[in-house]
Amino acid sequence: MQSHAIEMAQVAAAARTGTGRFNMYAGIHKALRAFMVDTLIAVGRADPTDDADVSHAAAQVEELVALCASHVAHENNFVHPALEARCPGVAQPVAQEHEQHLRHIAHLRDAAQALLALEAIEREPALQALYLALALFVADNFQHMHAEETVHNSALWAAYSDAELIGFHDALLATIPPAEMMLVMRWMLPQLNAPERLGVMQGMRAGAPAPVFEGMLTGTKGLLNPQDWAKLARGLGLQPEPGLVA
Ligand SMILES: [Fe+2]
Repeated sequence: MQSHAIEMAQVAAAARTGTGRFNMYAGIHKALRAFMVDTLIAVGRADPTDDADVSHAAAQVEELVALCASHVAHENNFVHPALEARCPGVAQPVAQEHEQHLRHIAHLRDAAQALLALEAIEREPALQALYLALALFVADNFQHMHAEETVHNSALWAAYSDAELIGFHDALLATIPPAEMMLVMRWMLPQLNAPERLGVMQGMRAGAPAPVFEGMLTGTKGLLNPQDWAKLARGLGLQPEPGLVA
């Protein structure tokens, strides 16, 4: 196993390589990490004797794993072919992990769906089993996303211009249905840093219908702390709100 110091130096070098470059993984992976952790916590907290609690946790697991399956498909369909074209072999380990993730996803979906049909007395061990299985899935995915954001990104930045990478990313985004995009934005926008968040919202204001943008803005406001909301509002040129120091 590598020493911690070497590993940190490699991570820092990979991150520096991307300074000023288009990073197609960064935003969606922040969203997925947040959604995974929140869901794990929800399952851990779910009261086995409370139908609504169990139902909420099960629904969140199903929503999470559906998004994860879709994310795997996006990477397989749009990112891996680009890597294979100019960096043959680089995506192979991650592609194999995607197969494992899809099997893991099917198991988690079945376990979440089964929860609701269980007698109350059987729910406690079933919830604990789901919690442990989901924790391993999250752990695997955190390692996996790290490889994508270091190894894959370094390869993509070396092999492609930002214009080409944005072209792949735009083609990927065009395949995402509105409901999935709303879900991604719900988990992504609060987790981005302020400049990233402003960039996404400016892009949405330029490209989406006004009601969609307004709805997203209202939803985002409810998920941000006052300082982050003030930064976003100022960046978008919205009227400042009294009493907030930005
Ligand atoms: Fe992946």
